[in-house]
Parts: sequence; structure tokens; C-alpha cells
Amino acid sequence: MPEAVFHAHTQRHARKWAGVFISVEGIDGAGKSSQLAAMGAQLQAAGWSVLHTREPGGTVVGEALRQLLLEQPMGAVSETLAMFAARAEHVRTVIAPALAAGQAVLCDRFTDASFAYQGGGRGVDEGDLMALSRMAQTVRMDGQSVYVEPDCTLWFDLAPATAAARRAAARGADRFEREDLDFFTAVAQGYERRWREAGGRICRIDAAPAPEAVAAQVHAALAQFLQQRGAART
Ligand code: TYD
Repeated sequence: MPEAVFHAHTQRHARKWAGVFISVEGIDGAGKSSQLAAMGAQLQAAGWSVLHTREPGGTVVGEALRQLLLEQPMGAVSETLAMFAARAEHVRTVIAPALAAGQAVLCDRFTDASFAYQGGGRGVDEGDLMALSRMAQTVRMDGQSVYVEPDCTLWFDLAPATAAARRAAARGADRFEREDLDFFTAVAQGYERRWREAGGRICRIDAAPAPEAVAAQVHAALAQFLQQRGAART
């Protein structure tokens, strides 16, 4: 069963938008992407119009940056700035308008990935990441300044060695997927830190069992989030 309780989070923050913003996270090989279609179907069944998107990417500029980020060698600072440049475009032109229009935005990775990969994996300063988040994710919405962050994040937690074995079975590793076990151990620790500090926004999914068992946890976590938001539209 999901360990996180979303109640505190949804109670604490006044609702900022008509839609819902949901992200999925985890180290490469944790299996999050294969759960996205079922999550979209669940949201649709609950009455939501669903926008599937991903980071880095989701816009023309973002997808161009993604190609560079995944293939071209570059330093940690450039990598971080490019991730946030892609995010700034994505938030302004895709995510915020969809949330304002009442859609469910289902995003494959968001800022937690920057804290885990660039912060944990590359050692970029957390205060710098927070400043960049504020810059990239603050937008005008209905005449107000709004900080855009997920309402709910599912973190697929898997031991780095297990994830490495799963990745080895897949073809065509990108620049991140070619990193070693030490890197992914640091990234996983970055995610765990985010999870502990998230105040209930991040729900931990045990990604070790078979796909059907993971899917059941995902379904339960999403149902719980929708119920607690009071937004299930069935
Ligand atoms: P992903 O969508 O998981 O790629 P795939 O198509 O292989 O499933 O993510 C691309 C990579 O980008 C992934 O290795 C993690 C990395 N990444 C960061 O390092 N920082 C970020 O902020 C984001 C969004 C992704």
C-alpha cells in the first residue's frame, strides 16, 4: 500500500488551479514509464481530460534541449540550466495553461528529477536548484503569481542494482543511463531525501515486485489522491 498520505498537503495549500498536476519519478529502469498509460486511463475514467507530457521535453524548445541533454557531453552547470530552461518553457506554454483549463497534467518527470539527478547525482547545490525552480516554475495565472509544482508525485523506488539489471535488458542507453552504480545510488538518495521532505506530496511506490503488483499500488495511490482532493468525477 502507498505509504504517503496526501491529506496534509491538499489541506495546507489552497487550490491554485482547476486541473490536477501529477508527476512520476524514479531512477532509470524503475519502470515508471510503463505505468503512465494506465494512469492516464484511470484519470480519464474519473472524468478528467488528460494531457500526457514529459521532461525534459514537452515543447519544441524542450524537445530540442532533450536531444542535447541526452546525447551531448556537457558540464553539470550547463546540464542543470538546460533542464530548467526546458522546464520554464514547458510550464509557461503547456502545463500552466492546461491546469488553468481544468485538465489533468500527467508528466513523466519534473523538478524532483533535477534535485535527484543534478543535485544528488552531479552534486549541484540545493539552494541553487531551489532558486532555479522558483524562476522556472513561477508564472502569472489569473493575474496572480503562482508557483507551479505537482499536486501529487508517484516515486518509483527501486534498488539501483535492480534498476541497472533492468536497464541492461533494454536497448540504446542515453547519456544518463550509461552512468555507473555510484551515480544512481546518489540519485536514489536524492529522491529519498525529496520524499522525506515533501510533506505528503510524494507517494512512494515499491517498484520491486512484478508489473501487476506495481500497477495495483499505482492505482490505489492515484485513487487516494483523487478522493482526497475531492475531485473524482465519476
Ligand atoms: P526519461 O524520460 O526517463 O528517459 P527515457 O526516455 O529513457 O525513459 O528521462 C530522461 C533522462 O533525463 C533521465 O535519465 C533523467 C534525466 N533528467 C535529469 O537528469 N534531470 C531532470 O530534471 C529531468 C527532468 C530528467
